[in-house]
This record gives sequence, structure tokens and C-alpha cells, in this order.
Amino acid sequence: MCGIFGYSGSKNASQLILEGLKRLEYRGYDSWGIALQDQKSKIKDQKLIAEKHVGAIGDVNSDFRLSSVDSYVGIGHTRWATHGGISETNAHPHFSTDKSFCLAQNGIAENYQKLKKDLQKKGYKFKSETDTEVIVRLIEDKLASRVDSGVVRGFVGTPQNDKSNSLKEAVRSAFLELEGRNTVIVLTDDGQIIAARNGSPLVVGLGKREVFFSSDTLSFAPFVSDVIVVENGQMVTWNGKLDLLDIKSNKSLPANPEKINFKSSKVDKEGYDHFMLKEIHESPYVISQVINQDQSSLDDFVKVLKKAQRVYTLSMGTAGVAASQIAFYLRNYAQINAVGLIAAEALDYYEMFSNQDMIITPSQSGETADVLEVLEVAVKKNVKIASFVNMPGSTMTRVSDYKFMANAGPEICVMSTKVFTSQIAFGYLIAKMAQGKGEEGVRNLQSLALEMQKYLDSGSNHEQIKQLAKELSKKKDVFLLGKYQNFNIVKEGMIKMIEGSYIHAHGIPAGDLKHYAITLMEKGVPVIVVISEDIAKDDVLNAVNQVKARGATVIGVSPSPYPGFDYHIPVPDTGETSAIANIIPLQLLAYYMAVELGHNVDKPRNIAKSVTVK
Ligand code: BG6
Repeated sequence: MCGIFGYSGSKNASQLILEGLKRLEYRGYDSWGIALQDQKSKIKDQKLIAEKHVGAIGDVNSDFRLSSVDSYVGIGHTRWATHGGISETNAHPHFSTDKSFCLAQNGIAENYQKLKKDLQKKGYKFKSETDTEVIVRLIEDKLASRVDSGVVRGFVGTPQNDKSNSLKEAVRSAFLELEGRNTVIVLTDDGQIIAARNGSPLVVGLGKREVFFSSDTLSFAPFVSDVIVVENGQMVTWNGKLDLLDIKSNKSLPANPEKINFKSSKVDKEGYDHFMLKEIHESPYVISQVINQDQSSLDDFVKVLKKAQRVYTLSMGTAGVAASQIAFYLRNYAQINAVGLIAAEALDYYEMFSNQDMIITPSQSGETADVLEVLEVAVKKNVKIASFVNMPGSTMTRVSDYKFMANAGPEICVMSTKVFTSQIAFGYLIAKMAQGKGEEGVRNLQSLALEMQKYLDSGSNHEQIKQLAKELSKKKDVFLLGKYQNFNIVKEGMIKMIEGSYIHAHGIPAGDLKHYAITLMEKGVPVIVVISEDIAKDDVLNAVNQVKARGATVIGVSPSPYPGFDYHIPVPDTGETSAIANIIPLQLLAYYMAVELGHNVDKPRNIAKSVTVK
């Protein structure tokens, strides 16, 4: 997935687009590029100018050449490579042969090889390995066929409105030929912006005499309050006036701007070394945001939840683990028939979906492609959908029957921490409400937030975990054991450690250890065991003995130490919410290991915050 951004108005486009891309870098940061309409271009018939760089934007201001260009309209793109390596040639935007327009894309044109072959037969040349350039050539080909067929004269000397109409029509018909989930944005040399969506997100921000295009609302939050969320199969054009149209029928549609309120869209580290550490410290805050959900919407939702025949909780990555923990709470406290799924692994459930079922999906971005694919099937089967999302105006909120906002504030670090904590706290709350003990659930979460605050405020806790991180960051493999309420917690601890340290961590159900992983236990192998004062405690202590007997080094995350621990990380015993408390030291451990290893903590290699491609 990638981030796309566009601007047209009365301000310096290059700086605005650069700042917008910086706020979108969580979507990918392999390379980036900006193209502008240069008001003072000295090259005849070449009004568009671009600059591209490999790597993240970082503090490029020093050598950002475009900042001196006099321009009020442009587009930008930050890339997470899908087709074609990481290089300046493959960076977007990609230009038409005659440089009259350029294009940036978010998504995958799944039929690009066939399209490329047909275009090459017609003599079109390609410089990059991307599917994006194929889309550009396809638009050129549509234009040429319109000129050949006499629909419009050639570009040179063509009256402006013919030219912009024919390009709009060429973009529209080319876009219809693309297979897969894509969003494209086009900048023309006469300053028109055209954007089309089928899959990857696209939102338009309306300011005073200026307009923003982006992959998310947060990236232009400081400048607008009215937003148009472009739906799949829609296209927007801007040439001083905004038009919204249905791509298939080419019919104009009413653009219904929505007010989007941005809670604390301030995006800075506020004194912490990294966003990740800041966001872990916001965990108590996000718990209070869960408690402050609108009570009547929760009551309505829980009533329907309890009647569901089957409940599928699903998402991907860290949110996928949160989904499983939500299912655990629903089963454990309310005996609801809930199963946690990895969305991309839900194919065998499609035939089982019925209008008696419910899907609950937690998601930071609300745009994860694998989840949206399942929701598209679920909508057709009239499955009730509930989403718990952190991005206002995102796609998941638009297809949900019940939508809850985490209101966790921006989560900038690619590694999800506070939003994961928020998601499982929400799961606990709705389970307690379904159990008829909502008040108790709220009280338990309130005391959890206090305990978390105390834990995070204790310098000795951080110091202890920092020391442990120094040791573990030297290891090649780290194992984590948990059971019952803590199994998903060790899975999430595994994900955090892999994402931040690039070390092979392995979260294992404690009971399964003796069936395979025990063969890997030998002197010095680090095993983190997460134990709460619950019905699973003794089983996990058995597993401690089994690994100790084979020389492993045991790190216990538990309220009190037990024989066999080589290290003990004390965590507060918060009763039913203990699992939520237990994730904090594991998030801190992953953080300090990434710092110890000198990795880019907020932007680890190869991954991105929001995966809007399959
Ligand atoms: C991954 C992120 O790419 O996508 C995870 O690294 C996230 O943190 C997962 O949980 C799902 O994304 P989202 O936006 O649906 O939570």
C-alpha cells in the first residue's frame, strides 16, 4: 500500500504536499515523489516538474529542490513497493510520454502484465518495472484512440475543455480496464486533478478556495473540516470546480461533504524519543476512551450481539490478534459462540455466513484490504458488521452496521501498541456488558488504567526492561509461552518483537510446547512466560519446569515470581483485565530491543502501518 496526496489552492503546493506525505509515511516509505504544475516553467509545453527520492522523507528540506518552484497545484506519493524494486525510476508519479500528465497509484493493477504486452505491441515504451506506468500508457492509448477516431483533435492546439474532457474520459475508460483494488490520482499540465477509486482509500478535503486529496483524513486534518469520502467506483475531477461521477455510467453524483472532527490530530513526539514510546504511554488514556464510548450505541449493539447465531471477530496482524482476544472475552464471560479469524484465512467460512451472524472487526486504519474483502462478502450475505476503528471516515466505518471509534488519537508508529490495547479493552467491555455486568467491566477497566499509569510512571520498570532488552537483542530466537487469557498476549508480544527487532520470536500455547517446540529447548534459549492468577497458572508453571529442565533461560511476566524464573518482570494483578496489563511490558521490551539494535523504531523495515493491498 502507499500514500497519495494532492493539493490545489492558493498556498505553496510543494511544502503542503511534502507535509502531507510525511503524515502518510505510515503507509509506506520505500520511496517518494512530488509533481507540480510549474507556473513559471521555461520549457515550452512542459509545465509539469517532479522530484523523486528513494527512502523515507526524513529531513529532506535541505535538498528539496521543488520548494523553490512557484506552484499552487500538485500531487505526491509515498511508496511501499509491490511491483518493481525500490528505485527512483519506479518511484511515483509516473509521466506520460509527452509529459502532459502524470499519475500516482495506490493498489495493484492485477492484470498489468497483459495490459503491458498489448501496449508494447502498439509500440509503447516503458522505463520502470511498475504496474503504475502501465496505467499511464493505457491512458495515453485511450487518448490516442480518441484522437484517431476524430473524437478530439490532437492535443496540440486542442481547446482546453476538449483536452481536459478527453483526458478525463481517457482516465475513466482506462480505470475501468484495471483489475484489482486501485486508486489513482492524475495531475495534468493545465492544473487539473483527476482521481479514481476502486479499493484503496481516497478522501477529498475541502478548504477555503483550496482542495486536498489523500489516502486518509488525518494527513490534511489541520486545514479542513469538510471531507468527501470517495466510494469505490467513483471518480473526482478538480479544475477550479469539483465534480464527482460514477465511473461506470459517467453520470455526475452529488458530492455530500461530511464534517469530520479530528480529536487531537497533533502529530508530534511530545518529548519522547519515538512515537512508539509515546503511544505506549497513552495506554491509560485509550482505556478511558473505551470507557467513554456512547452508552446507548453500546447497549443497542450488545443486544444484537447476544442474539447472533455465530460471531466472527476478524482482522490482520496485530489487530488480528486483538480480534482473537475479543472472541476469547466473548466466550469466556458471555458464553457467546465467537471465533477469532485472520481475515485472509476466512475463505472457508464464506459459505457459512448468514444473516443471523455478526462480524466484529477491530482496525487502526479501517482500510485493511484483506478485511474489506471479507466485509464485501459479508454485506452480500447480510451479516451484521460491527467495527472498532481509529481512523475517522475510513471504509470499514462506512460498511458497518455498528461503528465504534477508538478515539485513541493518531497512532504514528507502524507497530501498533495503544490501539491494540484499546481494541482488547473494548472486547472485554462488550463481553462484560453481554454478561450483564457492564458496570463491573467499566470499574475493572478504570482500575486497570490506574495500574497501567503507575506501571508506566515507574522508572525502575523501564530500567529493568531495558536491561533485559540488552540481553535478548543478542539472541537469534526468543520463545513466548502463554495460555487461556494470555495466549493472544504472547502472540502479540511475538509480533512486536519480530516487527521491531527482526529477531525470530515465537509465541506458543503453553500446552503445545511439549508436542513440538520443546525440541528447541537447550541451554540459554530465552523463554518468556506470561502468567496471571487464573485457572491456567499451574499449567504454565508446568511448562516452566519443562523448559528449565532443558536449560532454557526463563523470563517470567507475572504478579509474583515463581521457582524456575531466571528473571522476573512484575506486573500488576488486575484480575479479569490482567491480560491487558500484561501486554505493556511486552510492548516496552520490543521497543527497547529495537532501540538497542539501532533500528528505525517508528518505521521498521519492509512493513507499513496500513496494508491496503492483498
Ligand atoms: C499491519 C500493521 O500492517 O496491519 C499492524 O503493522 C495492523 O499493526 C495490521 O494491526 C492491520 O491493520 P489495521 O489498520 O486494520 O489495524
